[in-house]
Amino acid sequence: MVAKDSPTVPPSRRGDAGPADRAAGDFADLLDGLPDGVLVADAAARVVAFNAAAARMTGVPAAAALGGDFRDVLPLQDAEGRDWWKCVAPYGGLSTRTRHPERSLFLPDGTELLVTAAYRRGERGRVERFTVGLRDAAARARRERDRADLVSTVAHELRSPLTSVKGFTATLLARWHRFNDDQKLVMLETVNADADRVTRLITELLDVSRIEAGRLEMRRQVVDLPAEIRKAVAGRVAAGDPGDRFRFESRGELPEMWLDPDKIDQILGNLLENAVRHGAGTVTIVVEPDAQEKGAAVSVRDEGEGIPPEAAQRVFRQFWRGPGGNRRAGTGLGLYIVKGLVEAHGGSISVRRAPGGGAEFRFTVPAGAPDHAV
Ligand SMILES: Nc1ncnc2c1ncn2[C@@H]1O[C@H](COP(=O)(O)OP(=O)(O)O)[C@@H](O)[C@H]1O
Ligand SMILES: [Mg+2]
Repeated sequence: MVAKDSPTVPPSRRGDAGPADRAAGDFADLLDGLPDGVLVADAAARVVAFNAAAARMTGVPAAAALGGDFRDVLPLQDAEGRDWWKCVAPYGGLSTRTRHPERSLFLPDGTELLVTAAYRRGERGRVERFTVGLRDAAARARRERDRADLVSTVAHELRSPLTSVKGFTATLLARWHRFNDDQKLVMLETVNADADRVTRLITELLDVSRIEAGRLEMRRQVVDLPAEIRKAVAGRVAAGDPGDRFRFESRGELPEMWLDPDKIDQILGNLLENAVRHGAGTVTIVVEPDAQEKGAAVSVRDEGEGIPPEAAQRVFRQFWRGPGGNRRAGTGLGLYIVKGLVEAHGGSISVRRAPGGGAEFRFTVPAGAPDHAV
């Protein structure tokens, strides 16, 4: 939110239609769209802009912040509890300062923020405008922890199959003639499966990095969703799952769906695999039109233990593999990728307890349009 005028002028006397007001409004929208908090103070140290992120991080509504002294709105302290603004004296102090590099500071309630500041100076170095940038330190710490987790998980996940590949090939090379064909076959099958695991992990990691960088390329075409689901089920059966584990139902008429078939296959493959591997009993897949999204909704449910309701959000995070040592767990990247792929289609995914117990994953995708029309 940006003060359009001097804060002492009552709102009724501010013309709302003038071009300057409109520019101020656009500016406020722009600021509110930023993920970082922004506070702007004028020459008299009064707050003239306070965006939505700043309001969220500080808990001070924009309306309460505007017009106030920025030091009262943002009473920052350093790690020793000293008043930060007294230390740096933005409106006194060195008139050659142009900015303060990022540093970690605290609100009185202990919230840690990463703070930067910049000066706009006029004649004789007088401060005309003072802009403070705020970043959520906890979010950054979380990201850094995720990254560190990613590195150690990846290293760990790669090491065990590679240790086995190396072990078996070394043994075969050293003692080839001492093994009979059956023994050799078992070893080669293990090597083959472990190589598949490594490849799969790497493919998943590449997907994760594309999703995180927002670089998923969509190749939309008309997709027959029920046919795609039948194909995914047939794929599981061909790979050894009993055919009677799956029940498929197509309800109602779908609109013409413009989707990326490879990504849809990947979504379905992951959900079916999870239902078989982590769930139990019959896996029921239902596809139906979704009026709200003007598209389709697909649900995949099983009759296993399901997902505890408190974990319903967490399942979609990277490396979440369920409570305690879940022996059947894979990399924990599957559902994170599924969510990314569904969202790339403009859709959404959620999980709940199926009516008869078990997990029910349901995703919706809008009908979409040819790429060049989007
Ligand atoms: N259908 C399901 N029933 C019960 N738990 C599930 C189901 N699908 C997923 N989960 C839980 O969510 C976790 C994350 O799933 P996912 O991201 O696909 O990773 P992965 O399958 O590699 O373990 C699984 O490890 C499992 O604990
Ligand atoms: Mg999975």
